[in-house]
Amino acid sequence: MTTLAEMAVEVLTTADGRAKCAVSKRHAEAWFAARAAGTPLAVGTAAPPLHPARPARPELLHPRDVPRRRPGSPQGRIALLHAVAHIELNAVDLHWDIIARFGHVPMPLGFYDDWVKAAAEESNHFTLISDCLEAMGSHYGALPAHAGMWRAAEDTVDDLFGRLAVVPMVLEARGLDVTPGMIDLFRKANEAQALAALEVIYAEEVGHVAYGSKWFNWLCGRDGLDPKEVFHDLVRRYFHGALKPPFNEEKRAEAGLPPDFYWPLADGDTGD
Ligand SMILES: [Fe+2]
Ligand SMILES: [Fe+2]
Repeated sequence: MTTLAEMAVEVLTTADGRAKCAVSKRHAEAWFAARAAGTPLAVGTAAPPLHPARPARPELLHPRDVPRRRPGSPQGRIALLHAVAHIELNAVDLHWDIIARFGHVPMPLGFYDDWVKAAAEESNHFTLISDCLEAMGSHYGALPAHAGMWRAAEDTVDDLFGRLAVVPMVLEARGLDVTPGMIDLFRKANEAQALAALEVIYAEEVGHVAYGSKWFNWLCGRDGLDPKEVFHDLVRRYFHGALKPPFNEEKRAEAGLPPDFYWPLADGDTGD
């Protein structure tokens, strides 16, 4: 019988973006169908690759070498959506990786429900943005993309606390800060399809940050640790650089991230 960890590895070892997302959605449906029937699939353990399979294109470049384009032009908006598609595909792999990578850590079933749901949503995000790119005469893979996206996963490969601190609670929380500006940009450009896709992403990403915060707090509670202190230590250890204000305080609060978690790690903060 297939375990959830084996299903995760199948997603991680599928290279093509749309194919990866199709496998991801199919496995999420199987997981939730079994949960609804009261016969949950075994979580199991598996050996996820250190780097997930990805398509031959886009070409991956150091962030410094990725050309910047002005968002005021159609080409600039395509470049922006291309960068979002790259983030979403990476997120599909990140959410399955946390399932496969830490299968040896006993967690309540709700932990898996949350990350399987998040992975299915990321798969939908990638598909929505790929559809936008194709409607605009481009496609995922047409432009170069950042090479460093998987770094957070590699750095926290043996630390579940660190993975939760850096991936959902720092990187995905950053998404909450920057997405409203993108939504504005596409609204002003009358790009209805991209606007609708970004609004779905913005709404669902709050949930992913909340899952991170929930399970990070749960683990700290299990071990009798102060979550804020542990968060600060882990972000300083694994995240390269300071957090960048302005922060979306409202959405971060909705996702269970209080200001005293992130402000002491911010650019220019002298406290703590
Ligand atoms: Fe997403
Ligand atoms: Fe996400």
